[in-house]
Amino acid sequence: MIIDFLLREHRNIDLLLVALQRELEIFEHGARPDYEVIRAIISYFEVYPEVYHHPQEDLIFSKLRTRDPDAAAIVGDLAHEHQEVIDRLHHFAQAIDAILADREILRQDVGNIVRDFILRERHHMMWEERDFFPAAVKALSAEDWTEIASARTDHGDLLFSETAEATSDALRAHILQLEQEAEAERSSVAFSSAMAGKPPDGAKADGP
Ligand SMILES: [Fe+2]
Ligand SMILES: [Fe+2]
Repeated sequence: MIIDFLLREHRNIDLLLVALQRELEIFEHGARPDYEVIRAIISYFEVYPEVYHHPQEDLIFSKLRTRDPDAAAIVGDLAHEHQEVIDRLHHFAQAIDAILADREILRQDVGNIVRDFILRERHHMMWEERDFFPAAVKALSAEDWTEIASARTDHGDLLFSETAEATSDALRAHILQLEQEAEAERSSVAFSSAMAGKPPDGAKADGP
């Protein structure tokens, strides 16, 4: 059902957050993270959650409001939460652009922005899983779910479509592959440096 689909997407988003967290650790150790991975993660968030995932949830929430306004009020303000998610993503993207363009920005501030993005993204998903989804499952009828399943995006594509899902799966697999390659590269540099008896290149502050 639709909620299972959304839960699966949450797990998938979390895989990307794990990769992002790894790059953040590298950055916070004063080394250069893999910006290709970070930019690809930003692009993923700009498309799939914004174009598909949030509109699906917004639709479910508007049904919940109709079916059980009290339950919807207890859940909170989903539209506001989603706006905050978008704002945090833009803030994160701007910080990465600034560092790549060599603009003046404190490394510590960039680290804080990325950490905040990861933390609050996880918090948002946990809140939905704990409060929002169970309330919707309880209040919505079978017809409501059928109606939601046939909803379309602004461009006329189905909100829940196998094509969108397959593209999102392929992009995510590509990002995770890039992350694996970045890790393998870092391990091999660290190993060569250890064999040569010198600190790994990645350990020096060679920013950005
Ligand atoms: Fe959401
Ligand atoms: Fe969600």
